[in-house]
Amino acid sequence: MPALRFLNEALIERIRERFGTPVYVYDQATLEQAAREVMAFPAPCSLVGRYAMKALPNRSVLRIFDAAGLHIDASSGFEAERALAAGIAPDKIQITAQEIPKDLKGLVQRGVLYNACSIHQLRTFGELFPGGELSVRINPGLGSGHNNRTNVGGPSSSFGIWHAKIDEVLAIASEFDLTISGLHTHIGSGGDPEVWKRCAQLTLGIARRLPDLNRLSLGGGFKVARLPDESSADLQDIGRHLAEDLASYVAGRGDAFQLEIEPGSYLVANAGAILAEIMDVVDTHTPASDDAPAEPGHDFLKVDTGMTELLRPSLYGAQHPIHVVPFIRGAAGASLDAAGATGEASTEEVDYVIAGHCCESGDILTPAPGDPEGLAPRRLPRARIGDTLVIEGAGAYAAGMNAKNYNAFPEAAEVLIGLDGEPRLVRERQTLEQALANEI
Ligand SMILES: Cc1ncc(COP(=O)(O)O)c(C=O)c1O
Repeated sequence: MPALRFLNEALIERIRERFGTPVYVYDQATLEQAAREVMAFPAPCSLVGRYAMKALPNRSVLRIFDAAGLHIDASSGFEAERALAAGIAPDKIQITAQEIPKDLKGLVQRGVLYNACSIHQLRTFGELFPGGELSVRINPGLGSGHNNRTNVGGPSSSFGIWHAKIDEVLAIASEFDLTISGLHTHIGSGGDPEVWKRCAQLTLGIARRLPDLNRLSLGGGFKVARLPDESSADLQDIGRHLAEDLASYVAGRGDAFQLEIEPGSYLVANAGAILAEIMDVVDTHTPASDDAPAEPGHDFLKVDTGMTELLRPSLYGAQHPIHVVPFIRGAAGASLDAAGATGEASTEEVDYVIAGHCCESGDILTPAPGDPEGLAPRRLPRARIGDTLVIEGAGAYAAGMNAKNYNAFPEAAEVLIGLDGEPRLVRERQTLEQALANEI
């Protein structure tokens, strides 16, 4: 069996027994290591690492990153409230949102920072807070994501103020006496590090047109290797590449000038996994008959997870490492088959399509790369009903982004493995009553 990142068979068994499946599992040591890497980004001035909390918003994770010195990027007023409820100081939270928070006034009065992402947002802020201070998000004209759906820069993206509108930005700032002290660009998730570097250069060009800046955010989107043949963005290399231009821009801007980077995935993607139970094994092979040759179909594993915990494969054909871990009979009263599980992985391998539990043909955990409508069966040890399926690389955009309560499946529990190696519940499994609580 290929190596698991932070889990092992005994731990998997314990987590299944104590917390059931499906369950998200996070690893504090991996989270803290990623935070250290972000904080070590080479910068010619002070550095703020801002965690894009949408990636994994559980309060335990926010608190780990807060303790590691990271600030927070919130994508809505509700996310900002969520961070405040987790105990994050308001001045460490910045809102970068597609819609204006209903309570923008209250949030800013409490000290939360605002990053205007459109001309309308900038004007609204000006009307609420004449003489106020804020940041602006600019679309620099270039984007990159691991696919088109995660690309948020360039002319096909509505995110941020189009770079050709800087004169309008300056005019609104002067109309409302606003200080634009922050400039922010974020061009996509999991994109090409070379495009990221080019975008950072473009951002410096835009920065030169905004005279009052004391904060420059180059965004997140650093590619993370989830599969063995992928490579992660090298933060040290990216930082070194930009060092000279950044240093010449920052020179003379005073000691208080801050460079920011704003990763989500990089901090959490490989610190999370989903444990699911294999609920059924079916196939669509047709054996040869007297008058027809055999027709191969597919071998399917049906699991008690899917779009309800992990939307990325069905949304954009995202690839995740997947392991079958044999379940030892009797441990948790799971529905095992009659053959008797031994705890040994089968030496026979099968190309499996893994189907999620939703009544939705698109609920597939093994889509073709970048093509949610295609199938890419995964070679795995022959599995039995009751075995555990481990889906790794499921820290980012998993628990925070899913088809919650579809088919009335309750939200899964979340468990954090602490630095002492002990798994602890950080979100209880939702009950059906909780899922239905607001129906009248
Ligand atoms: C404004 C902003 N910042 C940061 C991020 C984090 O991106 P990633 O998780 O790819 O690092 C996102 C995600 O799309 C974003 O919209």
